[in-house]
Amino acid sequence: MAESLGVTEPPSRKVDTEPTSPFLRACHGLPADRTPVWLLRQAGRYMPEYRALREQHSMLDVIRTPELAAQVTLMPVDAFGVDAAIVFSDILPPLVGMGLELDFVQGDGPKIGNPLSSPRDVDLLGTPPAEETMSGTLGAIALVRRELESRAIPVIGFAGAPFTLASYAIEGGTSKDFSKTKAFMLSEPAAWRRLLTKLATVQADYLLAQAQAGAQALQVFDSWAGRALGREDYLRYVAPVNRELYAAIATAGVPVINFSLGVSAYLAEAAGCGGDVVGLDWQLPLDEACTLLGDERPVQGNLDPASLLAPWRELQARADDVLERAAGRPGHIFNVGHGVVPQTSVDNVRRLVEHVRERTST
Ligand code: CP3
Repeated sequence: MAESLGVTEPPSRKVDTEPTSPFLRACHGLPADRTPVWLLRQAGRYMPEYRALREQHSMLDVIRTPELAAQVTLMPVDAFGVDAAIVFSDILPPLVGMGLELDFVQGDGPKIGNPLSSPRDVDLLGTPPAEETMSGTLGAIALVRRELESRAIPVIGFAGAPFTLASYAIEGGTSKDFSKTKAFMLSEPAAWRRLLTKLATVQADYLLAQAQAGAQALQVFDSWAGRALGREDYLRYVAPVNRELYAAIATAGVPVINFSLGVSAYLAEAAGCGGDVVGLDWQLPLDEACTLLGDERPVQGNLDPASLLAPWRELQARADDVLERAAGRPGHIFNVGHGVVPQTSVDNVRRLVEHVRERTST
């Protein structure tokens, strides 16, 4: 419920004409003249152009400067001809506006300087509007949209899901076992619920603002709930707030992709929280995941990103396997089942995108 998260709903922007881009057609479950392809973390450290730019600017500077973020967003579009651009940002900067200190430490990933450890810390978190705190990313979306409109390539906005963000806010960085997060969740269930509601409120407002700035699809990344929690804990401590988040952003008038990593043990339940498209990780073969979903919802995925580290023949065979398992479903967006890793060869990415395009063109 948008109201329960305190979000002001923008007027509905439902499309009244059928979209023409293969990516948006697939998001709506409509047939397209080929299977669209883009890659999670497609603008990243495996690209020499990105590394060169990062030598000049810090990660947070790139994210906060619309021109730089737009430049990075366009890198994989220009280099490989992917069918969608995901705005260059990260899931963590919205935490800064809430009162957390964020830094991206070279070689050590994101760090929070003042992690949460008590219910009082949760109550001190603010929930300012995205226009105030994330104007760099909103500006980058507007720039990219203007640039890509004539090429009919849609721009995707994104945010992190409440559990994943809570894990960074409590652990202070990426975690292997999520022990502090789970200890907080189990010891302070009321404060846990307040924390997740605050995070969902801020992300819902941010996602709606991204759609208003020009994003034509939205993706929610729940990278760690499935890694951290068994099914019963997920249903009890995470699913209710995820349902509220998806309900709040359903009013954006653009398709929403629900990407929940590591949820094979409760895929239908995680997908049931909301979203139009189900983003599949790489653990289950695509056809089996679709059977578990038990519906005709469009899916995105699900090549193991490690496949991109293999020689081309092996990569090609694994990409073909994904395409065969999707068997021409109108609602299939080809993607990796988690982010492209830094060691990936640019040449393999180029060949993969070309191959999916050629193999599926009608
Ligand atoms: O093309 C794109 O997708 C770029 C935009 C993007 C980034 N992060 C840029 C980034 C997106 C969509 C993300 C999402 C993100 N960030 C997630 C969810 C997706 C997933 O992979 O599970 C998570 C969990 C994070 C948190 C995060 N940010 C980590 C763990 C790290 C360090 C390790 C890593 O994956 O690179 C980051 C830093 C980060 N975010 C970099 C980039 C390009 C590397 C920064 C650098 O050193 O240049």
